Amino acid sequence: MTQAQITRKAPHDTAKRVFIKTYGCQMNVYDSARMADLMAPYGFMPAETAHEADLVILNTCHIREKAAEKVYSELGTIRRLKAAKARSGSRMIVAVAGCVAQAQGAEIMSRASCVDLVIGPQSYHRLPELVARALRTERARILETSFPAEPKFDHLPQARAPRGVTAFLTVQEGCDKFCSFCVVPYTRGAEYSRPVAEVLAEARNLVRQGIREITLLGQNVNAYHGEGPNGSEWGLGALIRGLAELPGLARIRYTTSHPGDVDDELIGAHRDVPQLMPFLHLPVQSGSDRVLAMMNRRHTAQDYRRIVDRLRMAKPDLALSCDLIVGYPGEGDADFRQTLDLVAEIGFAQAFSFKYSPRPGTPAASAPDQVSEEAKAERLTVLQALLRMQQRKFNQACIGRILPVLLEKPGRHEGQLVGRSPYLQSVHVAAPSDLVGRIVPSLILDAGASSLAGSLAGPAVA
Ligand code: 5AD
Ligand code: SF4
Repeated sequence: MTQAQITRKAPHDTAKRVFIKTYGCQMNVYDSARMADLMAPYGFMPAETAHEADLVILNTCHIREKAAEKVYSELGTIRRLKAAKARSGSRMIVAVAGCVAQAQGAEIMSRASCVDLVIGPQSYHRLPELVARALRTERARILETSFPAEPKFDHLPQARAPRGVTAFLTVQEGCDKFCSFCVVPYTRGAEYSRPVAEVLAEARNLVRQGIREITLLGQNVNAYHGEGPNGSEWGLGALIRGLAELPGLARIRYTTSHPGDVDDELIGAHRDVPQLMPFLHLPVQSGSDRVLAMMNRRHTAQDYRRIVDRLRMAKPDLALSCDLIVGYPGEGDADFRQTLDLVAEIGFAQAFSFKYSPRPGTPAASAPDQVSEEAKAERLTVLQALLRMQQRKFNQACIGRILPVLLEKPGRHEGQLVGRSPYLQSVHVAAPSDLVGRIVPSLILDAGASSLAGSLAGPAVA
């Protein structure tokens, strides 16, 4: 680092505070945690609110218009806080990170004068240096959205485990698929897989700090192809098998996947690795081959059905989740009905569904036959009613079963803990607090729309 370096602080020095607000996907949650790790050695301790912070970072999402617009409205609030702070003689540095930073850096600078620093998702390892530079100058406005040749992971400190028993671990980033509605290939850049040794070391470190469950993250996580030992290349299935050897790591999950990258090795991992949870988020987006082709998804509805069949053959109790888009340009009623048919046939335990949102710079945004807002809203209502019904049915079918629940934290009521079932459902269980971090068999007594209630049905199993 240059003279812009801020001095590393001894723990007893007066702490500065950093407030990070995270929007969007789990990848951003992971990145925000790493930004906190980066700033901690320089005396920046986490703040609960922007109000008390010397450094405010908005880690933003650009996936849909609504997500991006939230940032500008938040910046309005931050501007007032910053001005109030300045009146009391102190300085607040405001940074915008994440995908909006990458896609609209210059626009942020011109629309929001309170922003000191714009930093893209591939350059945030330079945060301490750039914050230092901003602090040195009264009115520095720094825009750093390059895609560095060396991956940022080479420059990040060891991950500190989050509070709790579950953690995210980014193993893959970026995307080369270029679905025609999606900004990710532009904001996150080309696909990159972290080397196996680096992933295993980070996982080992998390487990040492008490983490029992790791969710492997990637925009397209099952495209993972990391460098393994002796010049080998490991896919996601091999990586999962490698992680399953870590003593103490009780559960493994991964998200988010593309149907085209589900291979035999991954299906084999679902069959053979008990730590790999029987829950898979596998976006399909549409049930119409015509729409899927326009979306450049490179798979058909029938491909999806076949993949699900093979996965369920390997792991009969596999629960599925997906993403769906309604009102993609050119989608007609018949196409939408095919989406409903596919959903009805697969039966999802959970799903996310969205109205198509045109994203600047993506091919679909300039397609001529945009669907009206009314039709999108109507289709979304119908689809979500079906999905809600499926989720309720899935949850109700759990009543009377004994499910292993990894207890994560206190529940809303006294004497209650909340954890997750293998199928990612929240489960509330009456249990003593020393069972946090343990997997307990729980008899499921009741099911709500999105959570279950159970009672302890035996001693902890792990
Ligand atoms: N409009 C609506 N939904 C989108 N998604 C991605 N881009 C768009 C868009 N332009 C959805 C997809 C993806 C999820 C993360 O967000 O369903 O899988
Ligand atoms: Fe976006 Fe996922 Fe398609 Fe990549 S595979 S372009 S991240 S929707």
